[in-house]
Amino acid sequence: MWAPFILILFFNGGFSTRITRFTNLKCKVLDPSYCVYDKCHLKILGRGIVGVNVDAKLLKGPFNNAKVNLSLWRKFNGFRPFMFNVTFDFCKFMSTSNTALSFQKIFFDALSTQSNLNHSCPYEKEIVVRDLVFQNDFLKFLPLPSGDYQIQFIAATENEWKTKVDVTGLLEE
Ligand SMILES: *[C@@H]1O[C@H](CO)[C@@H](O)[C@H](O)[C@H]1NC(C)=O
Ligand SMILES: *[C@@H]1O[C@H](CO)[C@@H](O)[C@H](O)[C@H]1NC(C)=O
Ligand SMILES: *[C@@H]1O[C@H](CO)[C@@H](O)[C@H](O)[C@H]1NC(C)=O
Repeated sequence: MWAPFILILFFNGGFSTRITRFTNLKCKVLDPSYCVYDKCHLKILGRGIVGVNVDAKLLKGPFNNAKVNLSLWRKFNGFRPFMFNVTFDFCKFMSTSNTALSFQKIFFDALSTQSNLNHSCPYEKEIVVRDLVFQNDFLKFLPLPSGDYQIQFIAATENEWKTKVDVTGLLEE
């Protein structure tokens, strides 16, 4: 479902002013016996500011094993994989303090401030993301060229992919 939001977030990223325009958020259930989305939308938070809001109910669990696949895509002629594409053990990742800079660390550091994805396993009942906006820090560590981007998040437990979330945005100078 393509949300009709074309929204703009201004901030100063060092030397230049960059504009981040969220364009779409899609949540897809791959196995309906595991989760259901009560909410999956972009929300206007203020002038030119838009946040990601997600409510996912976990129908099974508690989960002590989870795998996440995170990839970045950039639009050339359709979205193509761009720079990052990782699969990692989510429970292991959340139980260790990750000091090394990586795509997944930047992503989850940002996400953990606005969601309940902020603790070690087990996970149960629900996953909630509230008003997640692009942080200055996110792009400070990730000096991406201008363009249309998509971040794809796929989660698995018991070694089977259960759900997928795609968020797209536009990055401009
Ligand atoms: C991601 O990496 C895997 C393993 O290196 C590769 O097989 C796959 O095609 C890549 N996929 C994307 C979406 O980049
Ligand atoms: C991440 O998931 C995508 C889609 O299932 C897959 O093409 C890719 O190979 C995965 N990446 C890695 C590093 O396994
Ligand atoms: C995680 O997020 C929830 C919901 O926002 C909050 O109530 C809780 O205190 C946070 N826990 C940690 C360890 O930061």
